[in-house]
Amino acid sequence: QQVALPRNKSLPPIVFHYIPWFGSAAYYGEDPYKFLFECREKYGDLFTFILMGRRITVALGPKGNNLSLGGKISQVSAEDAYTHLTTPVFGKGVVYDCPNDMLMQQKKFIKTGLTTEALQSYPPMIRAECEDYFTKTLGISASKPTAKKVDLLHAMAELIILTASRTLQGNEVRESLNGSFAKLFEDLDGGFTPLNFMFPNLPLPSYKRRDVAQKAMSDFYIKIIENRRKGEKDHEPDMIDSLQGCKYKNGVPLTDRDIAHIMIALLMAGQHTSSATSTWALLHLAHSPELYETLYEEQKTLFGNPDGTFRDITYQDIKSCKHLDSVIRETLRMHAPIHSIYRKVMSEIPVPPSLSAPSEQSTYVIPKGHFIMAAPGVAQMDPLIWQDAKVFNPTRWLDEAGVAAAAVEQYSKSEQVDYGFGAVSKGTESPYQPFGAGRHRCVGEQFAYVQLSTIISYIVRNFTMNLEVPEFPKTNYRTMIVQPFDPYVSFTLRKQDV
Ligand code: HEM
Repeated sequence: QQVALPRNKSLPPIVFHYIPWFGSAAYYGEDPYKFLFECREKYGDLFTFILMGRRITVALGPKGNNLSLGGKISQVSAEDAYTHLTTPVFGKGVVYDCPNDMLMQQKKFIKTGLTTEALQSYPPMIRAECEDYFTKTLGISASKPTAKKVDLLHAMAELIILTASRTLQGNEVRESLNGSFAKLFEDLDGGFTPLNFMFPNLPLPSYKRRDVAQKAMSDFYIKIIENRRKGEKDHEPDMIDSLQGCKYKNGVPLTDRDIAHIMIALLMAGQHTSSATSTWALLHLAHSPELYETLYEEQKTLFGNPDGTFRDITYQDIKSCKHLDSVIRETLRMHAPIHSIYRKVMSEIPVPPSLSAPSEQSTYVIPKGHFIMAAPGVAQMDPLIWQDAKVFNPTRWLDEAGVAAAAVEQYSKSEQVDYGFGAVSKGTESPYQPFGAGRHRCVGEQFAYVQLSTIISYIVRNFTMNLEVPEFPKTNYRTMIVQPFDPYVSFTLRKQDV
């Protein structure tokens, strides 16, 4: 429906397309960045494209990010954009199946489970899981030190779920990963795809399996909580403990079912984001032996013992690993796992002329009913903001006078706001937002950094790596999270230097 607008207001330009309802779905779906950069050339930072009947208005660049990620609650809604995808997977009553104010409080509860103390206790557990995985599952050990070719994405997906369950999710989940839980996770994950996003209700077996798995997984967590209440088993402190006893501002406590659904949401939110990020980082390291050796030297300098062994990395150490940190940052710049962030437009959004305007007399508005989309990856790879934007160059983060640090620094000083889960730098106008910005900003960033840094450190210390494909892997955008095609590498046990 075209809206009648006064003369001084216009709708953003619509991207040319041949097939009315289908719109630009094929091009956008195949390579969103190519599509978005090309549209920017033609239409500027603000335009609308048609995606299977939906009108998606894209706002690009730092100012565009601010318009959607910093949008007022009365104007933009994440719940209305995502609930059809997430509620059947996470379950009812949490995240996007509740008012935004409740989500903000749930994020605060999650933060209480991610204290510095908790994060400090994780690296040794993560390292122990890595040791087990590489020696037992992949079968690389001193007695079998030959090169082992692996599908890195598959290996990282396994390692991420193993380490997340050992730390955040709790012993019971970790123990069940060898059995029923793994199958439930697979079925649930099969319901978290672009197809589910576009078509919430299809009579397909995968949708049915998703629903069965959701119920079973939710029941599984409830059983854990009930057994713990009976004092059946000793366990390390974890997120379930932190969530138990949490109360909303109005005094209503989280139910066991709420806790179960938050735990599922955390599992899903961290799984593909972190496994894709570790995979991309390691692929770049395998592709650049010099960089890989720089990281190895850094590990030896900071953590090496005289006998050739290494001490565990700690939470405090993470920021002092300058090279490792810069590799993770650069990986997230070029391979932000989430390429598009949507919000439903709940009331007309006036577009500031500084972002885009049709003429001096007129401004653009984004009408109610559209979706507004941020693509932080576009600003992250914009040649107008970053030097050699398409080149993977972690050293850009080491050079303090460099464009990268300066650009991000400029925005990180931005207004501090408290959305209910602790004051955060709003950062909605930053050119670097792999973890999003504003009220929906990621609460898992510190945890992800601990997990990624510990896993990559373990690999660097113990193995050399070779890329087992002729050229650097291309990107697969057909999944929810940006992943590499053919991510094959081989690991060889390092010879002890001493
Ligand atoms: C939100 C990225 C890991 C939990 C987000 C958002 C992004 C993001 C871009 C904003 C989404 C939006 O605005 O719609 C990442 C990346 C990760 C990562 C790149 C790893 C490299 C994790 C982990 C957890 C987690 C490990 C849990 C332990 C969450 C939660 C939200 C969120 C609860 C809030 C959703 C909301 O408020 O709407 N993440 N994430 N994430 N993430 Fe992460």
